[in-house]
Amino acid sequence: MFRKIALTAVSVMALSVGAVHAAGGEGHVEDIDFAHEGPFGRFDQFQLQRGLQVYTEVCSACHGMKFVPLRTLADEGGPMLPEDQVRAYAAQFTVTDRETGEDRDGIPTDHFPMSSMENAPDLSLMAKARAGFHGPYGTGINQLTKGMGGPEYIYSILTGYTGEEKEEFGSYFYENTAFPGGWIAMTQPLYDDQVTYADGTAATLPQMAEDVASFLMWAAEPKLMARREAGFVSVIFLIILSTLLYLTNKRLWSGVKGRKTA
Ligand code: HEC
Repeated sequence: MFRKIALTAVSVMALSVGAVHAAGGEGHVEDIDFAHEGPFGRFDQFQLQRGLQVYTEVCSACHGMKFVPLRTLADEGGPMLPEDQVRAYAAQFTVTDRETGEDRDGIPTDHFPMSSMENAPDLSLMAKARAGFHGPYGTGINQLTKGMGGPEYIYSILTGYTGEEKEEFGSYFYENTAFPGGWIAMTQPLYDDQVTYADGTAATLPQMAEDVASFLMWAAEPKLMARREAGFVSVIFLIILSTLLYLTNKRLWSGVKGRKTA
């Protein structure tokens, strides 16, 4: 029985390693200690606000986040913008009303706009979509042991440009050490001092990359902290319940088990 299970496990691992290698090999992904990592990690509200600024001023020129409602910018555990700022943020977009078919200013219940550039993927779930497969031979072990995943990948893409570019069949590709295959169709989006942070943080390339990666992780998993808290409560509950059941069991059978025959 055990041999069967072990053999299956080994062949599944061999298959997935093969699949990753066939996909063009892994890029280099940097490990970053994000505030949200670890069992007690929490998103840093101010980092999320800076990330929102980078997303809005730079990334949103090409990318969209059509699954993320604007009102969540005010949510507990997120960037926690005051309601009036969320309303002002929403109002800068022009939205075609679904009911009247007419254009109007955005309101908090609208979603972020979708990608405006055809081949730029939607970023709503990107931090989750690219979470797996980091680690030796694409086993994904780094996610378990170091908490490495999508945000690290996004950070590494943004900081992984070498400056080389090439043209193939009329399209330009830029060399990137993190992108699988080594050449990405996105030009380097971030350079030092591209944005001016309202809170005075120095806008270096690594800083902006970390901020926007953290923001995209929140966008993909806005309830991360609530989920963790619920997890802790249920573990504690289960420990108490198991102890009570064990004691009850002992007590119920004590009459029978304690009796000596003969
Ligand atoms: C000039 C337009 C443009 C801007 C600005 C831009 N991107 Fe991109 N991005 C693209 C395109 C095009 C692709 C598709 C690249 C490919 O598949 O080779 C892409 C792909 C990506 C990917 C996916 C990589 C993958 O694994 O498929 C991520 C993540 C990403 N962009 C993040 C960002 C972030 C974060 C910003 C802002 C700091 C940003 N982009 C700014 C055009 C842009």
